Amino acid sequence: MSNRPDLPPEIANRRTFAIIAHPDAGKTTLTEKFLLYGGAIQMAGQVRAKGEARRTRSDFMKMEQDRGISVSASAMSFDYGQFRFNLVDTPGHSDFSEDTYRTLTAVDTAVMVIDGAKGVESQTRKLFEVCRLRDLPIVTFCNKMDREARDTFEIIDEIQENLAIDVSPASWPIGSGREFLGCYDILNDRLELMDRADRNKIAESIEISGLDDPKLAEHVPAEMLAQLKEELEMARELLPAFDRERFLEGSMTPIWFGSAINSFGVRELMNGIGAYGPQPQPQKAAERVVLPEEKPVTGFVFKVQANMDPKHRDRVAFVRLASGHFERGMKLLHVRTKKPMAISNPVLFLAADRELAEEAWAGDIIGIPNHGQLRIGDALTEGETLRFTGIPSFAPELLQSVRSSDPMKAKHLEKALMQFAEEGAAKVFKPMIGSGFIVGVVGALQFEVLASRIEIEYGIPVRFEASQFTSARWLSGPKDKVEAFVNTNKQHISQDHDGDMVYLTRLQWDIDRVTRDHPELKLTATKEMM
Ligand code: G4P
Repeated sequence: MSNRPDLPPEIANRRTFAIIAHPDAGKTTLTEKFLLYGGAIQMAGQVRAKGEARRTRSDFMKMEQDRGISVSASAMSFDYGQFRFNLVDTPGHSDFSEDTYRTLTAVDTAVMVIDGAKGVESQTRKLFEVCRLRDLPIVTFCNKMDREARDTFEIIDEIQENLAIDVSPASWPIGSGREFLGCYDILNDRLELMDRADRNKIAESIEISGLDDPKLAEHVPAEMLAQLKEELEMARELLPAFDRERFLEGSMTPIWFGSAINSFGVRELMNGIGAYGPQPQPQKAAERVVLPEEKPVTGFVFKVQANMDPKHRDRVAFVRLASGHFERGMKLLHVRTKKPMAISNPVLFLAADRELAEEAWAGDIIGIPNHGQLRIGDALTEGETLRFTGIPSFAPELLQSVRSSDPMKAKHLEKALMQFAEEGAAKVFKPMIGSGFIVGVVGALQFEVLASRIEIEYGIPVRFEASQFTSARWLSGPKDKVEAFVNTNKQHISQDHDGDMVYLTRLQWDIDRVTRDHPELKLTATKEMM
């Protein structure tokens, strides 16, 4: 990835990013402060939806009934200086990692929030690995410096070692816990002082000309100043200087220190995202690479949210625009069905409220209400046949069979399941032999959420039960070979909602055997969604 010099300003100034964090590190608080600085909300405390990471199951169910909330939190746009920030929410719960992965296909950078006392935690690591798969540039925010935090070098070392990425300090904390005064802004030679009295106030910023500036001593007690100078000296020797190219290619992360709750360090972080980017990046399609500055509009669906209004079975497809200048009312080609679609009521998520989008540019996220035509991975273009790549579908890790306790509702259940499959909420497999369905998910919580949604949204009481299978692999290869294999292994074969063949088993041994005995066939744990 790199910033390209020749983008039109409307596109060049867009910053589309997600925040990744272990639960409790401060994602919600930071999001709120972003919105506050972006002028999208007037007061902290207005972000109604807490980060999904912290929601309990009952919160989640409630949210499911009140879909508006989670939708407005799914993608938020706001202006900051000359920049348009698009913040895409990642579901934090580990049960939704597939959703997270897809979300990260729609952004150009990720902000990794870590707790200054806890450092790199399990969920941080998982989410980071997902970013790494895509070489996504990462900006780090070390939060909660107003509390007792670890030694700054220790935090940086831990990130470097645990995540195998070079860390370059963009700011340096002065003291921690009760002693925390603020930060020295290394990139701009400024002193930033935290105001504990007013949590929503933008910190005081003092211009400093180098570390020998006498102004420093006016604000920082002698002992702390001596320590700061010593640490900065060491940091300069031991840690790499910020290198924008390396940041953009994903091998270096700049780190800012701060306290989200005290609104401290947030502005510097936002300035950093603005100044260093990245700008909207080219997107890969099977046919070619799509550049953001191309005139024709193209985009892809990375998330579908269904049944926001239970009375109408409507859905919103979240589209990342890959190129062009979109205007409301445009007719776009829905590539998968080859049908034109008039996009007459697209939605732009301006912080708390949904708004009709009159226009949008490459890099933006728009919501398109539809009745189920739009699926994850679908492309919209002005006529070209494109298939954006890199939006995978993972093999589920947990399989259960599902049955309705009301046998009269079997047909309805099939419809409900297919809709959830298209939404990306679960994998649904229809075995060749026998009746019923097998549902696959990545995390156990999803079964409960599904059962609740099927009941609430479709009025069908369902039971999930242990399945005889534990693994699913997509089957591909030459048509005749696949057919021959399917015919002799019917008890293991099912179809997913797209009609693709899936091999189900309970033994890894079976998978190894098929791979060995049928080198012409491929069993894969992911499939790219069209
Ligand atoms: P999450 O979305 O990543 O799960 O975290 P969230 O922002 O909800 O923050 C988790 C807890 O950490 C919250 O406290 C929040 O107030 C606190 N917090 C966030 N940033 C800072 C910070 O800079 N300094 C300190 N000291 N605390 C911070 P809580 O008690 O769990 O919730 P609440 O009652 O404050 O809402």
